[in-house]
Amino acid sequence: MEFFDSHSHLNDEKFDNDRFEIIEKMKKEQITKFLTCGYNLEGSKKAIEISEKCDFTYAATGISPNDIPQNEQELWKEIAEIEQLAQNKKVVAIGEIGLDFYWNKENKDLQIQAFKKQIELANKLNLPIIIHTREAVMDTIAVLKENEVTNKGVFHCCPLNRELVKEALKLDFYISFAGVVTFKNAKNSDEIINMVPLDRILIETDSPYLAPEPLRGTRNTPINVKLVAAKIAQVKGISIEEVAKQTYQNACELFKI
Ligand code: NI
Repeated sequence: MEFFDSHSHLNDEKFDNDRFEIIEKMKKEQITKFLTCGYNLEGSKKAIEISEKCDFTYAATGISPNDIPQNEQELWKEIAEIEQLAQNKKVVAIGEIGLDFYWNKENKDLQIQAFKKQIELANKLNLPIIIHTREAVMDTIAVLKENEVTNKGVFHCCPLNRELVKEALKLDFYISFAGVVTFKNAKNSDEIINMVPLDRILIETDSPYLAPEPLRGTRNTPINVKLVAAKIAQVKGISIEEVAKQTYQNACELFKI
């Protein structure tokens, strides 16, 4: 059995002391592929660095809605740099990009502009996108309907929102489930998991954040992606092997690995 953690932040400083020890351990724990996702310039560079040191990892580069610079000028400059970084052959997606009106309400227009511009960039480079959306479901869907995404994408740590999942599936996007689906207060997680056919599901940790139950509150690592897979298997009444195999295949297909 092999697992693909489709979204981690091994580039986070919380891993500065033991990053490569964790990566070594992963192989023994059947995590045989994982993606390190960028969120700003520094994070994107670090994601590439990690992917170059380690053959079974890949990187995504992008400016997240929570890392948008103060002014437009600076934003275009940063996106131009992301374009340069994304030429690296270990970069398999543009992300994470999207809208977050929970942490940042003051710069909605700039967030939307950054999102659109990075969709354009992904299309130009023939890469899929990794979407972050929080408290901005309908606006996110509106941007995706108005701006065609030619290499598809994934809703990372997908909010457990029925409308969003319905629209995302209609747009032919993948849904990525994180540790949140294991939380005791995620009341509708079973319903949402059942809405998504297995061939549209990715699994992820979003580590170091969002450790799944029973490890909630601890530093998360890609090894815990197994707990997310186990939850999906339990809800769908299938084996964890089946979840591992299909989600692995889905991630390879999306990221063209
Ligand atoms: Ni993330």
